[in-house]
Amino acid sequence: MRFLHRDSELLVHTPSKLNLSLDVLGRRPDGYHELETVMVSVRLCDTLNFRLLPASDAAPVALTVHELAPGNHAIPLGADNLIVRAALLLRERTQSDFRVRIELTKRIPSEAGMGGGSSDAAATLVALNALAELRLSSAELHALAAELGSDLNFFLDSWPAATCTSRGEHLSPLELNRPLHFVIVKPPTGLSTGKVFARWGEHNQPHSRATASLVQSLRTGSLQELAGSIANSLTASACELNPDLTTVLNQLSRADVLASEMTGSGSACFGLCRSARQAQRLANKLRHWNLGQVWAVSTGV
Ligand code: C5P
Repeated sequence: MRFLHRDSELLVHTPSKLNLSLDVLGRRPDGYHELETVMVSVRLCDTLNFRLLPASDAAPVALTVHELAPGNHAIPLGADNLIVRAALLLRERTQSDFRVRIELTKRIPSEAGMGGGSSDAAATLVALNALAELRLSSAELHALAAELGSDLNFFLDSWPAATCTSRGEHLSPLELNRPLHFVIVKPPTGLSTGKVFARWGEHNQPHSRATASLVQSLRTGSLQELAGSIANSLTASACELNPDLTTVLNQLSRADVLASEMTGSGSACFGLCRSARQAQRLANKLRHWNLGQVWAVSTGV
């Protein structure tokens, strides 16, 4: 995430993520699933604007949303919203009485597997820790992030890439030795993470392992080798729940990409491209195919 101070306001650009590999290793006693996944941060960003309010203002957290991602469901503004939950959790745990106005400009699609809500909530933890001078350590912020969801920890320290294990909240940062370029297609219909994991469980699917070879090819391999390691254990289950996904993946595999896959639990899919120019050209072409929303993006925090 990138921060910009403007008088008493703090502006934050929050990136999204793609899962280049996602191995589901099994169901845990707490109902979650044990994962091994490589996430990369990409520059399809939301923007959050934070301003502390005087104590006399009523609501502790006042969220407004400017929606720029057509097709998103209405974003909740109350305690169902992960941004509001992050701010309220900070107030409670630090026994602080700050009041804050937060303006969200939403570009990252919802129910897409791109971690938009998690990235926004992680930015809220970091921004309010600074703005309200709460002085929480990095370890304390990570503990709150893990409480709020499985993907927040990845965004907290702005790593360009990381292997994430356990529920997804344990991180091992990775270097990217070159920028990566993608075309992303998000079908009009989304997918619920919980339902996709449940469907995976019904099938008792064999445990594929893509992450180790993906990490190796990120470190030393060619773009072709990297492409050969891209895989997601949840894709088959997600396709059963959302037929639009099969169409998008079929069309992407026919386009001139090195590899195509779903990110997270869907429903957005990506194609790995050879260059930013190729990604842009392909995005322009795919926009005419009526598959959903299309972006060309590159890695970056
Ligand atoms: O943690 P998060 O709120 O993103 O997860 C949403 C849902 O996805 C969980 O309630 C759970 O059903 C499922 N999930 C899972 N295993 C994970 C992450 C998420 O089963 N590692």
